[in-house]
Amino acid sequence: MSNPLYLDYGATTPLDPRVAAAMEPWGVTGFGNPHSAHLWGYQARAAVELARDSVAAAIGAPPETIAFTSGATESVNWALKGLMTHPGNTRRRILTTATEHNCVLETARYLESLGAQLTVLPVRGDGLLDVDDLARAMGDDVALVSIMLVNNEIGVIQPIADIAAIARRHGAVMHCDAAQGFGKIAIDVDAMGIDLLSLTAHKIYGPKGVGALYRRPYTMLTPLLHGGGQEDGRSGTLPTALIAGLGTAARLAVAQMAADAAHARMLADTLLGALSVPHVVHGSLDRRWPGNLNLGFPGVTVPLLPHLPGLALSSGSACSAVTGRPSHVLTALGLSDTQARAALRLGFGRFTTATEMVKAADDINTVVARLGAGNQAS
Ligand SMILES: Cc1ncc(COP(=O)(O)O)c(C=O)c1O
Repeated sequence: MSNPLYLDYGATTPLDPRVAAAMEPWGVTGFGNPHSAHLWGYQARAAVELARDSVAAAIGAPPETIAFTSGATESVNWALKGLMTHPGNTRRRILTTATEHNCVLETARYLESLGAQLTVLPVRGDGLLDVDDLARAMGDDVALVSIMLVNNEIGVIQPIADIAAIARRHGAVMHCDAAQGFGKIAIDVDAMGIDLLSLTAHKIYGPKGVGALYRRPYTMLTPLLHGGGQEDGRSGTLPTALIAGLGTAARLAVAQMAADAAHARMLADTLLGALSVPHVVHGSLDRRWPGNLNLGFPGVTVPLLPHLPGLALSSGSACSAVTGRPSHVLTALGLSDTQARAALRLGFGRFTTATEMVKAADDINTVVARLGAGNQAS
């Protein structure tokens, strides 16, 4: 039996062979510690700094504002905990939305258990934050506004520049979880007013286990990992191969951003055009990353995934697949638990073909026609 068709790019993307090639020397011969003061160290350090330049350039930031981490989860933890536990920060409130990734929501809840105040704003039915809601909820007690760029389950793009302008007016720090937006849509931290930005390599054809945190100079942050202090407050020996992979993935993503987006749009159009059963796309149709389609099928009230063995996809995030709970993102849009469980999240991109999208649509058409007929909502 052949492997199921991979349509879970929101969970992680395949490694681009060009990224794998760039990583290879640093996993074998280039084994030196990038912090060592000898030839092996200098060579590894040069690879790390090249990657830092690439990541910085991709978000319009100076290289020294980039600190490498183990991925977006660590970056988010550092941003939120680092600011809220900094002795110079006298404000206690965190403002975020109901559709953030769990690494933001759980970290914020943890900080709440330590005495922070947490305001979780609802989103509209299209998954976007109403900036008037944000303006009403803001106050000079807000230390941190943390809002994602591209949603990992429904692909919608939040109006970060408008959000950051409101945060700045009140003197709050603006953190953006850009795990799903970095390398896919243009980011300029200055133009967008972002003070802290979390990113990761494995959503843009890079390796898992590496990411970065952008820190605007003078943003108050205590370290998350204490020790040798290698990355300006983030301790631990840097993984040269992973970082070289992140840098190469970032360079490639920027160089072919328009082509990748056009390809993803073509794939989305192909799938939607080939679907013959009634369906709805969850989340805004206008403001979205096209490589993420979250679909519902009116009349289908059972989870579809078990009926689609030929497709490797998910109904919500990879995390909700672990907990078995319905997606908090879809329920925040107003879907019932049943509707959320019956949804399909399709993620596709650089290595997906139009033929594969037609096959996916065929499989979905067959299953929905079969299940929908017996499950018509009254
Ligand atoms: C929006 C968002 N934030 C954060 C993360 C966590 O990233 P990482 O796997 O690099 O820790 C993910 C990954 O699923 C994500 O989609």
